[in-house]
Amino acid sequence: MIKKIAVLYGGRSGEHEVSVNSAQAVMEGLEQIEDYEVVPVFITKEGEWQLHGNRVALLPDPAIGGLYLLDGESGGNIVSIDVVFPVLHGTFGEDGTIQGLLELARIPYVGAGVAGSAVGMDKILMKAVLKSFGLPVGDYLWFTATKWKKDRTKLVEDIAAKLGFPCFVKPANLGSSVGISKVYKQFELEPAVEEALQYDHRIIVEKFLPGSEIECSVLGNDDPMASLPGQIVPCNDFYDYKAKYIDDRSALIIPAQLQPETVQQVQELAIKAFLMLDCAGLARVDFFVDEKARKIWINEINTLPGFTAISMYPKLWEASGIPFPELLRRLVELAEERAAKRAQLKTSFTPA
Ligand SMILES: Nc1ncnc2c1ncn2[C@@H]1O[C@H](COP(=O)(O)OP(=O)(O)O)[C@@H](O)[C@H]1O
Ligand SMILES: [Mg+2]
Repeated sequence: MIKKIAVLYGGRSGEHEVSVNSAQAVMEGLEQIEDYEVVPVFITKEGEWQLHGNRVALLPDPAIGGLYLLDGESGGNIVSIDVVFPVLHGTFGEDGTIQGLLELARIPYVGAGVAGSAVGMDKILMKAVLKSFGLPVGDYLWFTATKWKKDRTKLVEDIAAKLGFPCFVKPANLGSSVGISKVYKQFELEPAVEEALQYDHRIIVEKFLPGSEIECSVLGNDDPMASLPGQIVPCNDFYDYKAKYIDDRSALIIPAQLQPETVQQVQELAIKAFLMLDCAGLARVDFFVDEKARKIWINEINTLPGFTAISMYPKLWEASGIPFPELLRRLVELAEERAAKRAQLKTSFTPA
């Protein structure tokens, strides 16, 4: 039986280009797997879905079971799909929106569901959840645009008193370091907040966390496993957009050179974070680790991490004994397993 895997890529997100790169590697990897057929679905920056240049749509009706061709000679036909692999980063891909559509259409998909995706994407909600479960996150404050307009002076005072400098100002819902500033002096705070407010109306300000940037890949559903950790050595003052995608002097150290106890702690925390945030399939959990001070903080979780052949997520699995195509096969199977379990659940209740 041939399995049809729709790879969704591009998308209405600031990370459109990153997604195109990730998808190229994912599609090449999937092509190598016997019995898999790739259905490449490109989503334009405007949000139009295209299959080999023809417009397609995914409708919420679960009876359809695939993509609906909108135009051309085969307009009205259905391309059946077994599993969707959303290789989309950021807004409308990693935030629960596409996952909601796939739930309605009842098509198995790779990665976390609606809640896990949405909470994982929102830095304020993510930190609140991790903290409530007792996982180590750094100190932070958050506020809305409205609150900032009303109480700016008080907020600046609070930030200076509670977090100090340097601190990090971030829009709550974004990725790729877009809109993020490292603020060294109090007078830099206002422009940094104004910059972040261009991307979101909710802002998080975090205390500066020292230590190295350590990342750990997680794979699985209810009983996930963690890879060996890796380390990021940014070529800039911090791992900003330029250091991530433009300047190629940032280095990945795989595996990270850490004490065995630290490796174990990082892996345990990565798995806990994955489960507590209701993730599925895959996630990359990012940390700050200060081995001398024996401190580990969770920075964030990425439910659809970068997936080019040289990205941290697949590289860590490769170093942990799972080669790229095998990783893809497992992700597809995890998607099917999760969908099958959910299909067994009762969706209604008949009182006796
Ligand atoms: N609290 C912090 N302390 C020290 N460095 C930080 C902190 N928050 C972010 N950074 C730096 O900024 C980068 C981007 O921040 P992050 O929260 O990971 O945003 P994104 O979701 O865009 O990746 C991190 O990789 C790190 O280099
Ligand atoms: Mg990050």
